[in-house]
Amino acid sequence: MGLRIGDIAPDFEIDTTEGSINFHDWAKGSWVFFFSHPADYTPVCTTEMGRTAQLADEFAKRKVKPLGLSTDTVEAHKGWINDINETQNTQVEFPIVADKDKKVAKLYEMIHPGESETATVRSVFIIDPNHKIRLTMTYPMSVGRNFAEILRVIDALQTGDKHGIACPADWELGGDVIIPPTVSSEDAQKKFPQGFKTVKPYLRYTSVKDED
Ligand code: BEZ
Repeated sequence: MGLRIGDIAPDFEIDTTEGSINFHDWAKGSWVFFFSHPADYTPVCTTEMGRTAQLADEFAKRKVKPLGLSTDTVEAHKGWINDINETQNTQVEFPIVADKDKKVAKLYEMIHPGESETATVRSVFIIDPNHKIRLTMTYPMSVGRNFAEILRVIDALQTGDKHGIACPADWELGGDVIIPPTVSSEDAQKKFPQGFKTVKPYLRYTSVKDED
């Protein structure tokens, strides 16, 4: 059975480009963007690593620590990071796991044999400060991930946790949010004194501000 939303992200000890880590200790108190890529020195992966590094301030603002992974060695990762920094005009400062024994890849089911028997696919786990898995996504080897979506879903999860709301399709930070059907209208009036719009009894919109 694979890992599912709501599961505790399994703990592990592993070598990374920033030294050996115990995952839960390293993640303590932070959100984590944990993502695998198929292999070092490959083009799509180079752009994804570069994008993650370029977005360092955006991740930090949201208290998110990125953690990459492939089944290459620390030495290979370090050599490749020089290429990423040079070609993507950035500095990779987040750790990349060297999972040469595929220990973590197996634990997190990042190898999908129909795609590759040996390399990890493009898995994403968004993990909250309680080590709970809040989102999973899996991309094929041939398609780079959309980092605007990764930041958007982190914003949506954090806004939902803070305000007890849900986010509609294509929601972006600052947009109207949805009052969950589990909240009665009476409770909604207390919880959302700014008001809300009832389109259907089960479809109610309100707005929330970061400082609310
Ligand atoms: C890439 O990163 O470009 C890539 C890696 C493995 C398979 C296909 C593409």
